[in-house]
Amino acid sequence: MNQQTAIGLDIGTSRLVTAYGTNTAPVFETQLNAFLALPYTRLTEMALRRERVAHEVRDGHLIVLGNDSERLANLFHLETRRPMTRGLLNPDEAGGPAIMRQLLSTLLGPDGAGRRVCFSVPGAPANAPHELTYHESTLRGILTDMGYHADTINEGLAVVLAELEDTNFTGLGVTFGGGMCNVCLAYLSMPVFSFSVSKAGDFIDESAAGTSGEGPTRVRAIKEHSFYFNGFYVDQVKQALTIYYDDVISSVIRALAEYLSKPRNVPRLDRAVPVVISGGTSMPRGFKDRFEALLKTAELPLAISEIRTSADPLNSTAKGALVAALAEI
Ligand SMILES: Nc1ncnc2c1ncn2[C@@H]1O[C@H](COP(=O)(O)OP(=O)(O)OP(=O)(O)O)[C@@H](O)[C@H]1O
Ligand SMILES: [Mg+2]
Repeated sequence: MNQQTAIGLDIGTSRLVTAYGTNTAPVFETQLNAFLALPYTRLTEMALRRERVAHEVRDGHLIVLGNDSERLANLFHLETRRPMTRGLLNPDEAGGPAIMRQLLSTLLGPDGAGRRVCFSVPGAPANAPHELTYHESTLRGILTDMGYHADTINEGLAVVLAELEDTNFTGLGVTFGGGMCNVCLAYLSMPVFSFSVSKAGDFIDESAAGTSGEGPTRVRAIKEHSFYFNGFYVDQVKQALTIYYDDVISSVIRALAEYLSKPRNVPRLDRAVPVVISGGTSMPRGFKDRFEALLKTAELPLAISEIRTSADPLNSTAKGALVAALAEI
């Protein structure tokens, strides 16, 4: 457990990331936001304990938590489950909040002792604003109950704080994650507007699996290890990935264009602003060029100075949350 007083925490659909230390040299730790339910036997429990596998006993099952869950799932050809879906706590996963508490406990330490945690929350999804209230209040309740002083930060704003110090925290932060994409325009570190789009990496995996005959886990492995933007692919999986990547990027740009189509939503800025892209889904080679090409076709009423990519797309939300937490000490 880390005893430092300010912690940045990215609560993502696929991964939980903490950032400790300073703005300039943060240290990150990661836990998969997943679990695996195995049938309970005393022998298995003892074996898990001896191997130091994070777990708990619940309703006659051994619940393996976080990074270990994927390792064991692969070994036994099982599927992990997740407390969150599409960026928010999954209301259909009844034990989700309890498992979330255990996962946060393994990552942060069980006793907050008043330490300040700033955790990321998505922008409101246009189709489900109340789920955001449930998500945010539940997570705040868990962290407060563990003894942490919990604050929140919008995920897109966190990326602006992490990546745009040189423009005085002014610009458009766009994250492409596992469960959703987030957009936030910030001016001098203040959010001007933010929203989320409820499809991202998981949607790409499931959709490409549906049309190519491969399972989503195999599709995800191909996406993460050998996919890049290449125009047309003869390979069926890679061609499907290309199509659903375009779908996700277009959905984000369409949502932005729609928001800015109302004259009262158009910010009156005194300068052109940079766009910074982050999140695991933005990692394949060629993503930025594809994003830029699709953005150009939208002709937004917003002057854009440049498009940047985060140097550390899996950690920049946690870094931005740390910047916000440190500023409050
Ligand atoms: N090298 C890679 N290439 C392509 N995709 C990747 C790569 N690494 C991770 N991903 C994908 O990125 C997604 C996870 O990204 P990230 O960790 O930013 O999401 P998250 O913060 O957990 O979720 P969200 O913000 O949507 O709630 C997954 O869909 C994963 O498959
Ligand atoms: Mg995220």
